[in-house]
Amino acid sequence: MRFTSYVAASAAAALASAQTFTACNPMEKECPNNPAIAATFETNFKAGADAVKGWKQTAGTLKYGDAGADFTIAAKGDAPTIQSEGYLHFGYIEVKAKAAAGKGIISSIVLQSEDLDEVDWEFIGGVDNKVQMNYFGKGNVSTYDRMIEADVSNTKTEFHTYALNWTAESLTWIIDSKPIRTLNFADANGGKNYPQTPSTVRIGIWAGGDPANNKGTIEWAGGETDYTQAPFTMTVESVKITNYSPGSEYKWTDKTGSFESIEVIEPGKAEGAPVNSVVIAPSATATGGGLQSQINVPTGSADPAATSPPCTTEVPVTKPSGDCGTSTVTITLTSGEQPPATTEAPAPPPETTGGIVTDTAPAPSVPYPTAPTGSVNTTTTAPPAEFTGAASHNKVGAFVGLMAGAAIMFV
Ligand SMILES: *[C@@H]1O[C@H](CO)[C@@H](O)[C@H](O)[C@H]1NC(C)=O
Ligand SMILES: *[C@@H]1O[C@H](CO)[C@@H](O)[C@H](O)[C@H]1NC(C)=O
Ligand SMILES: *[C@@H]1O[C@H](CO)[C@@H](O)[C@H](O)[C@H]1NC(C)=O
Repeated sequence: MRFTSYVAASAAAALASAQTFTACNPMEKECPNNPAIAATFETNFKAGADAVKGWKQTAGTLKYGDAGADFTIAAKGDAPTIQSEGYLHFGYIEVKAKAAAGKGIISSIVLQSEDLDEVDWEFIGGVDNKVQMNYFGKGNVSTYDRMIEADVSNTKTEFHTYALNWTAESLTWIIDSKPIRTLNFADANGGKNYPQTPSTVRIGIWAGGDPANNKGTIEWAGGETDYTQAPFTMTVESVKITNYSPGSEYKWTDKTGSFESIEVIEPGKAEGAPVNSVVIAPSATATGGGLQSQINVPTGSADPAATSPPCTTEVPVTKPSGDCGTSTVTITLTSGEQPPATTEAPAPPPETTGGIVTDTAPAPSVPYPTAPTGSVNTTTTAPPAEFTGAASHNKVGAFVGLMAGAAIMFV
């Protein structure tokens, strides 16, 4: 009930907040620099809203309790979501969380860049003991082999630590300090589909099983959401990030979308951009009703004016691609399934999902003979180093140096 006001919010507000998704694609035009997240960035959601700095509430609101921040769907249209104010360019990203149960309910942890590079963790509310690991580069939705599912026990009742170790060479998904899947740069279509540009961290919950969504989305989400079973809650205890390319901002020096094209402004600046110290708005207004209103962008913003880029209000948000309201569609399928023939029309844009628009395309359902890209490492026992802030950062110091060097060449 406490979320009812969101449903009533206006469509105009939704338009104004379109930048929460893809406001300006640097592969298509000149865009503002991306503010950098701090070299080490940590949020303890158990400490309450006042301690949550460097995040914006892009939809709904959070409730802070002893276990962390609750992301709750209490009614249709709710999709509380937060997004880091800053961007990291390669790094270690760790989220300690407990996913939401509930048929059709999706808990998501996403890295996403302005040209639609994306890395995901996704939890299907009706599926126990699994998490989906997915990625894509430059919004390329023409592949069907990116998603891999990992086993993880009691995702809905226990906190686990979901981490990504993201470098220019490889991307590793790590659960409770155990590397599970590694994607090498070259394995992602020769690097072309490899996520490699400055990205924000987005965390949210949404109803993929909303009855208004398309059939494929609902199937992927595990069936229609029954709102009489609400509330559905994901709880996030903490986020820890090491930005491997610290600086104050990232500048896209050309339209290639390659990591080499990213220039670090003030390389090495540990505190990053000023936005990292901005306290999250405790009760952001969500424009809600995203699912009902069928717009193709996330809804809500703590402060649309603060980050308002060009073209947030002029362009129809139903536009499936382009500079504004660009959507990303990730085709997901389980092993044993295969994409449709290559002659098939591109996947439709996802239904509106509220805070996060991602991974909502229909799962094709024909036989799938080849293994997905990447490998699931089920034999590992040796954990990687725990997050140690500066220590982790030092370990990648040589890499950071390389990145800074590469960036300086473009100055
Ligand atoms: C991340 O990957 C880099 C490069 O492969 C490695 O040196 C580093 O130890 C890894 N860090 C973690 C926390 O896994
Ligand atoms: C998109 O991905 C597919 C499959 O990897 C690849 O064949 C195609 O060239 C990619 N498109 C672009 C524009 O990179
Ligand atoms: C699996 O993980 C172990 C321990 O982290 C590592 O030694 C091994 O190389 C990994 N295997 C693959 C295929 O990634």
